[in-house]
Amino acid sequence: MSLHLTDVTLTYPDGDGRLTALDRVTLDVPRGSVTAVVGPSGSGKSSLLAVAATLITPDAGTVTVDGADTTGMSRGELADLRRRRIGIVFQQPNLLPSLTAAEQLQVMAHIDGRGHRAARDRALELLGAVGLADQAGRRPHQLSGGQRQRVNIARALMNDPGVLLVDEPTSALDHERGAAVIRLITRLTHERGTATVLVTHDHAQLAAADRVTEVRDGRLSLAATAG
Ligand SMILES: Nc1ncnc2c1ncn2[C@@H]1O[C@H](COP(=O)(O)OP(=O)(O)OP(=O)(O)O)[C@@H](O)[C@H]1O
Ligand SMILES: [Mg+2]
Repeated sequence: MSLHLTDVTLTYPDGDGRLTALDRVTLDVPRGSVTAVVGPSGSGKSSLLAVAATLITPDAGTVTVDGADTTGMSRGELADLRRRRIGIVFQQPNLLPSLTAAEQLQVMAHIDGRGHRAARDRALELLGAVGLADQAGRRPHQLSGGQRQRVNIARALMNDPGVLLVDEPTSALDHERGAAVIRLITRLTHERGTATVLVTHDHAQLAAADRVTEVRDGRLSLAATAG
């Protein structure tokens, strides 16, 4: 239950040349801890998450998820690894409008081939863990922005991932709701032992992290040790 990026370089095509989005990035995220990633717009934060999520294969370097080196894995193997071991929370919740909060989570288990009853029980347990036990039957339009984001986080935890990757989860929320979402992510990380990476540009959120790293022009540095 850990995440290791070693010497990762990622480039994108850019006109005649290549743009270096990540430049020999090394990052170790132990289980049960939150590493916050900060940095200016365009510095490479989302690229870092996409590589950690195995959604993009880097030009060089290795990504190891729960002890498994992903180098050379087929697309099918990577999809399987993501489904079983990696929870991803994008900035926008991307909930399906016609499904209730509980059903948003159950879909994940269905993909994983789990039984209906077990999936329902797990969905309700996780909605309880994010403080939405009473809202399990509601559809996205009946939920607030903060509640939708909490469904999004619960959904990412549905298959009990060892790695949790979160990209700016609070940018659509006011300060108080944003802080509550960050506290929730921190609590779930410690309770469930996930290796969590949290991208944010809200410095008020950094105190909740176990470590803070900064990306600038694709390079990573340890910014500070948070409380
Ligand atoms: N698919 C792509 N093709 C080409 N260039 C890209 C692509 N995605 C990102 N980039 C470039 O790579 C660099 C890093 O982008 P990235 O999205 O990782 O930044 P970010 O730190 O997440 O920024 P923000 O805070 O605005 O979300 C930027 O210069 C961006 O323009
Ligand atoms: Mg980004």
